[in-house]
Amino acid sequence: MSDLLVTDIGCLVTNEVTIDGTPLGVIYDAAFEVTAGKVSWIGSRSEVKASDYQKIVSANGKSVIPGFVDSHNHLVFAGDRATEFSARMQGQPYAAGGINYTVEQTRSASNEELRKNTVALVSEGLSSGTTTVEIKSGYGLSVADELRSLEIAREFTEETTFLGAHVMPTEFKSAPEDYVAMVCGPMLDAVAPHAKWIDVFCDRGAFSPNQTRQILTAGIAKGLLPRLHANQLEPGEGIQVGVEFGAASVDHISHFDDSDIAALANSNTVATFLPGAEFSTRSKYPDARPMFAAGIKVAIASDCNPGSSYTTNMPLMIALAVREMFFTPEQALWSATKGGALALRRNDVGHLAVGAKADFSILSSTSYLHLAYRPGVNLVEQVWRNGNQVS
Ligand code: NIG
Ligand code: FE
Repeated sequence: MSDLLVTDIGCLVTNEVTIDGTPLGVIYDAAFEVTAGKVSWIGSRSEVKASDYQKIVSANGKSVIPGFVDSHNHLVFAGDRATEFSARMQGQPYAAGGINYTVEQTRSASNEELRKNTVALVSEGLSSGTTTVEIKSGYGLSVADELRSLEIAREFTEETTFLGAHVMPTEFKSAPEDYVAMVCGPMLDAVAPHAKWIDVFCDRGAFSPNQTRQILTAGIAKGLLPRLHANQLEPGEGIQVGVEFGAASVDHISHFDDSDIAALANSNTVATFLPGAEFSTRSKYPDARPMFAAGIKVAIASDCNPGSSYTTNMPLMIALAVREMFFTPEQALWSATKGGALALRRNDVGHLAVGAKADFSILSSTSYLHLAYRPGVNLVEQVWRNGNQVS
């Protein structure tokens, strides 16, 4: 007996190329079965064998998609930066330095306040279809505050990332090498048991390529896996440093050239675009087409944080990627699901196939195209994780 049958699915996105030969692997008039939180059968509705199910859910002819895998977020922080946003909309440029305001707020917040804010943001993402979320530290920037940030992040996800190298904290401005030594030493020692990933903001006003190399080397020696914030604010070596270290993903990549494309094309590193950051910093959107043309694996994520992208909404990321970064609607949906999973080196999420986690959303539209076609409209009707309805 199976736990669940989801049936009468007008359009089921599986992300299994074998199913219809396209990357989205769409099955029309589909159904699937869930046993112990995983997909145990998937196919055409006409092939469902009458059997015992504890529960039968009808999608009423609507679309079902894999849960979004939001692979880049900063959710442990206090306060907001609405006035900074407002100033930007009146012409102020975005700069890495604004992060230190959130660091002050975060340091003086209690664990309970930080946890409450994280709960709210994770639930917000869940209700718009995000079933796997990555969470970074990076607003503590002291041993104790990075540690508690990661301890809190771990309560929500196994995809936790140590971002002690977010910016130089104010008290280390005149001794940056001392801060790098602290990140690579006592801070890393304290946080390593609570983090899967190590990340560095390698950009203007943050960390240099050589500091980035030093920090990634130390993190890898401690068993953490590398990923990077690269080339958000200006062209630079970030993407190439990421590839050099075998990073699972290089993120932002608002600036890239042919040599960056060549490096990514010969690697296993995912190129992650964060359209919410361009939106909220009023920056020029990169054109993703050369990445796709080179066969590079692409992801999109929301980059939820109080400075550059205060949203958890993956459908909005899809709409922006399509409208502003020249993704096709199919590429955008794939990047928000399977692409995010690859960026986290996960093969149990981001697709729907026998053995995968039963993480999925039922949309209120018959076509997944509506995710880009109806921007700002809440189309996610139900969200299921591990075969249980969670929203
Ligand atoms: O990914 N770019 C660096 N870090 C964040 C922004 C953090 C902030 O402004 O508070 C990002 O966009
Ligand atoms: Fe970020």
